[in-house]
Amino acid sequence: MAVHGQDEKKKEEVVLPTASEDLERGKKLYDGSCQLCHGPLGDGGKGANLAQAKLPRAQTDGDLARVIEIGIPGTEMPGAWHMTRREVTQVAAYVRTFGKTTREAAPGDAGRGRSLYFGKGGCQGCHTTKNPEGVLAGGLMGPDLSVIGSRRSVAHLREALVDPGASLPDYFMDTTVSMKSGGKINGRRLNEETFTIVVQDYGGKVHVIDKTNVAEVVKDRKKSPMPSYGGKLSASEIDDVVSFLVSLQEAR
Ligand code: HEC
Ligand code: HEC
Repeated sequence: MAVHGQDEKKKEEVVLPTASEDLERGKKLYDGSCQLCHGPLGDGGKGANLAQAKLPRAQTDGDLARVIEIGIPGTEMPGAWHMTRREVTQVAAYVRTFGKTTREAAPGDAGRGRSLYFGKGGCQGCHTTKNPEGVLAGGLMGPDLSVIGSRRSVAHLREALVDPGASLPDYFMDTTVSMKSGGKINGRRLNEETFTIVVQDYGGKVHVIDKTNVAEVVKDRKKSPMPSYGGKLSASEIDDVVSFLVSLQEAR
């Protein structure tokens, strides 16, 4: 794609193709150029989660085509300079299907899943969701799950329950900081800059640590403080909890 003429293109209205050949071609291009970062189902990894009804940086189809074409400067999101305009719209059309397939059929019973979530599962101790009274409540150690059904695939949700370390969300990094004075802080890394590292321990307390006092920092991309529920819940109970999570949808 030529760089000049971008201003005219900005105003140009983009209409995404809908024919099945175009979507198939879009899928091939996506699998070749995008899935490494965005995941085979678009639910994210190194790249942003694309399986959402609204993409914050690509609300209109024109914005979506532009993000794909020129990337997001200053981030890991590259521009697809090697693609023709038509290919860009084919990939964009395919990307839009991720946001629509979020209401996948889940095999369990969402009502029973809700009881397990608030009862035996003890999920609320670590996660925020609307409680049975409709009020957002719960622990802060794990991510907010109040609209997780709009964000993640059934397969990812099941994996999160059975094998929590398998695909940690991008923002989650288990971190152990050993201080020069002795003593360790273990928790999730919230932020890190040249001179400070901010860690929230698994009790919820936030530590702002001066790096000059630190002997060693060990980060583990595979470790999750969430216990596996593979042995704690039966297969059908896991299905029920997954169905409950799928029901937690963003208002449209
Ligand atoms: C090297 C990894 C990488 C590759 C390859 C990649 N992306 Fe991205 N993409 C990212 C990252 C990281 C972000 C988030 C950037 C940010 O906002 O900080 C992103 C953001 C996006 C967004 C904006 C999402 C939002 O929240 O609004 C879209 C759309 C997108 N990518 C589509 C694609 C498509 C389509 C391809 C293939 C043509 C692709 N990306 C290839 C890493 C990648
Ligand atoms: C001891 C605290 C703890 C408990 C209890 C816990 N979780 Fe988690 N959970 C976490 C943390 C921390 C993460 C983020 C790291 C990860 O993905 O493993 C997480 C991640 C998740 C994710 C993935 C979120 C995403 O964006 O991909 C889901 C889904 C989830 N938990 C559901 C549950 C459910 C359902 C239960 C109860 C059956 C539960 N959790 C119990 C701490 C917990």
